[in-house]
Amino acid sequence: MLHFSISLGVLLLAWVYSASAATADEWRGRSIYQIITDRYALPSGSANTTCDTTRQTFCGGTWKGIRDNLDYIQKMGFTAIWISPVNKNYEGPRTAYGDPYHGYWVQDISQLNSKFGTEDDLNDLITELHRRGMYIMVDIVVNHVMVTSTTNPDYSNCFFKDASFYHPYCPIVYGNATSEEVCWFGDEKVPLADVNTSNPTVIERYGQWIEEFVQKYKIDGLRIDAAKHVQKSFWPPFCKKAGVFCMGEVFGGAEVDPVAEWQGPDALDSVLNFPMYTALRDAYTIPGPANTTQLDQVFAEAKSKFHDTTVLGNFLENHDVPRWHNLSVDPQSLYNAMTWNFMSDGIPIVYYGQEQSFSGSGDPNNREALWPSGYANTTSYQYITTLNQLRNFLVNTTDWAKQETNILTSSPTGFAILKGSIISILTTIGSPPQEGAHISVKTPFETATALTNVITCQQWVVGANRMIDAQYSLGGVPTILVPSDQLSGSGLCGTDLAEIAGNGGKADALNAAFVARPSASVLSLTAVLMAAIAFAA
Ligand SMILES: *[C@@H]1O[C@H](CO)[C@@H](O)[C@H](O)[C@H]1NC(C)=O
Ligand SMILES: *[C@@H]1O[C@H](CO)[C@@H](O)[C@H](O)[C@H]1NC(C)=O
Ligand SMILES: *[C@@H]1O[C@H](CO)[C@@H](O)[C@H](O)[C@H]1NC(C)=O
Ligand SMILES: *[C@@H]1O[C@H](CO)[C@@H](O)[C@H](O)[C@H]1NC(C)=O
Ligand SMILES: *[C@@H]1O[C@H](CO)[C@@H](O)[C@H](O)[C@H]1NC(C)=O
Ligand SMILES: *[C@@H]1O[C@H](CO)[C@@H](O)[C@H](O)[C@H]1NC(C)=O
Ligand SMILES: *[C@@H]1O[C@H](CO)[C@@H](O)[C@H](O)[C@H]1NC(C)=O
Repeated sequence: MLHFSISLGVLLLAWVYSASAATADEWRGRSIYQIITDRYALPSGSANTTCDTTRQTFCGGTWKGIRDNLDYIQKMGFTAIWISPVNKNYEGPRTAYGDPYHGYWVQDISQLNSKFGTEDDLNDLITELHRRGMYIMVDIVVNHVMVTSTTNPDYSNCFFKDASFYHPYCPIVYGNATSEEVCWFGDEKVPLADVNTSNPTVIERYGQWIEEFVQKYKIDGLRIDAAKHVQKSFWPPFCKKAGVFCMGEVFGGAEVDPVAEWQGPDALDSVLNFPMYTALRDAYTIPGPANTTQLDQVFAEAKSKFHDTTVLGNFLENHDVPRWHNLSVDPQSLYNAMTWNFMSDGIPIVYYGQEQSFSGSGDPNNREALWPSGYANTTSYQYITTLNQLRNFLVNTTDWAKQETNILTSSPTGFAILKGSIISILTTIGSPPQEGAHISVKTPFETATALTNVITCQQWVVGANRMIDAQYSLGGVPTILVPSDQLSGSGLCGTDLAEIAGNGGKADALNAAFVARPSASVLSLTAVLMAAIAFAA
C-alpha cells in the first residue's frame, strides 16, 4: 500500500490561473470530437458505400454529412468539433500516396475545397453547431503547400504564386531546429514546399487571410498543422489577427520540454499534449511496457513546464498515430486512460471512430469511414457520454476546469488523481480480475463522507484516516468518485443518487459496501468495488 502525505490545504485551494486570452478561457471547459470530413458521414440520400482506407482516396464524406449527423456527437456530450482542413488542395493526378482525401495537401487557402461542399454547406454546418451551443475548430495548414516537383515546382495554383515566397528545397533533418523550420516536409513523391514565413509580405497576407477567414465563417478556434515547422515568433501576431483560440500540433514523444516551449505568450495558446499521450499509452496499453514511472514523471514535468496545462489538447488517438484499439484490445485499458484525459487538466479530444473501437494502425489505416458502424450506441459511446456529462456539469456549475490536478496515489497498479473534489482511480491492470490487487487512496475528505462512483452509481464512504480503497477482484474498471452531495442537478445516477445521498453521512463505514446494480453499469465488466476502511497509518 502506498500512502502519500499531501497538503490538503494546497489541494483544496482553487488554482489561481494567470490571465490569458479570453478565447482560451472559453475553450477550457469544452470537449472536442475530431473529424476527418471525408470519413465521418455521407450526405443524406447517398448510397451506403464501403471505404477501403488502403486506397488512400476520397470516400465521400462532406460538411453536409457532418451537419446531418451532429446528434450522434452532441448526444455523446461533446461541445465542439474539430474538422480536417477546409481549404483548396492539390487537384491533379493521383500521387504515390493517393489523393488528398484528408485535406492536408493545401494549395490555395483563399478558396474552399469543393470536394467537401460549397460555401453554403460550410456556413450551414457552422450555423447549426452554434445553434446547438457547440464550437467549431478548423484545422489549418500554413507551413507549406503541396507541389509536384522539388526541382521545378509550379506555384500557379497556390496562394503564393511566386517562388520567392518559398524556401528553396532541402529535406528536413529532424533534430535540427533550423532545418525543421526552413526545409520541406513530405518527400520527392509528394513534396510540401515550405513557405518562407519570415517574409514580411507572407506575414501580412497570411494575417489578412486568417482575419477574414475566421470572421467570414464564424470560426471559434484553430488547430494549426505542423506548428513547430514555422518560426515561433510567427504565431502570436497571426493568432491575434485570428482573434480565436489557437491549438498547435507540435508532434513529439514523452519529452516535455520540446513541446512545452510552444505554449505561452511568445508562442501558442495551446498545443496537443503529445507527452501525456505517450505516457498514457506506455502506461495503459495491454500488451505494453506498463510504464507507470514515466507517467508520473511526465505528469510532474508537465505541471512545471507548460504555461497552462488546463487548455492543452488531451488525446489517445488521432489521424497520425495508431488507433488505441490497434495497440490495446483490452477495453478497460481504454476506459481508464480516457478517464485521465477527461478528469485531469486539459481539453479532452476524441478522434471519430474511437467510440466504435476502430483498430487501424497508422496512416492510412487509422482513417476508417464511420458509416459502416451504423453510428451504433456502443459501450464506449456510453462511457464517453458519462464522462462528458460529468465534466460538462462540473464546468457549468463550478470553476473545476481551472483547478489543478494532483496525483493522490501512484503505484504499479495505477493512480488516483484529484481535480477539484473529484477523485479518479485509474488502474493499469486491464480486464482480468486480480484478487488482492487494489489502490489505496488518502482522500481530502472527512471519514464517513459519502461519495458516488458515477460509473456504476455505487456509493462509497470514506473510511478511517480519510482512506478509500479500490479493489479489483472483478477486473480493472475505472472509478470516478464525486461527493454525493455535489451530484444533485447533474442528471447522473438519477434517483438512486438522491436515495443514497440521504443515507450517506450517517452510514456505518463497515456496512458501506454496495453491490453494483448491473443495469447501472455501462462497463462490459461489472465489478464489485468496495469502499473499505484502511487501517494503515
Ligand atoms: C541545420 O539545418 C540548416 C538548414 O538546412 C543548415 O543550414 C545547418 O547547417 C544545419 N545545422 C547542422 C548543425 O547540421
Ligand atoms: C525569407 O524571407 C526573409 C525576409 O524577406 C529573407 O531575409 C530570407 O532570405 C528568406 N529566406 C529564404 C531562404 O529565401
Ligand atoms: C519507463 O520510461 C522511462 C522514461 O522514458 C524510461 O527511462 C524507462 O526505461 C521506462 N521503463 C520501462 C520499464 O519501460
Ligand atoms: C493493427 O493494425 C494492423 C495493420 O493494419 C493489423 O494487421 C492488426 O490486426 C491490427 N491489430 C489489431 C489488434 O487490431
Ligand atoms: C451501412 O452498411 C452497414 C453494413 O454493410 C451497416 O452496418 C450500417 O449500419 C450502414 N450504415 C448506415 C449509416 O446506414
Ligand atoms: C445508448 O444506450 C443507453 C443504454 O441503453 C441509453 O441510456 C442511451 O440513451 C442511448 N443513447 C443514445 C444516443 O441512443
Ligand atoms: C451545461 O450547460 C449547457 C449550456 O448552458 C447545457 O446545454 C447543458 O445541458 C449543461 N450540461 C450539464 C451536464 O449540466
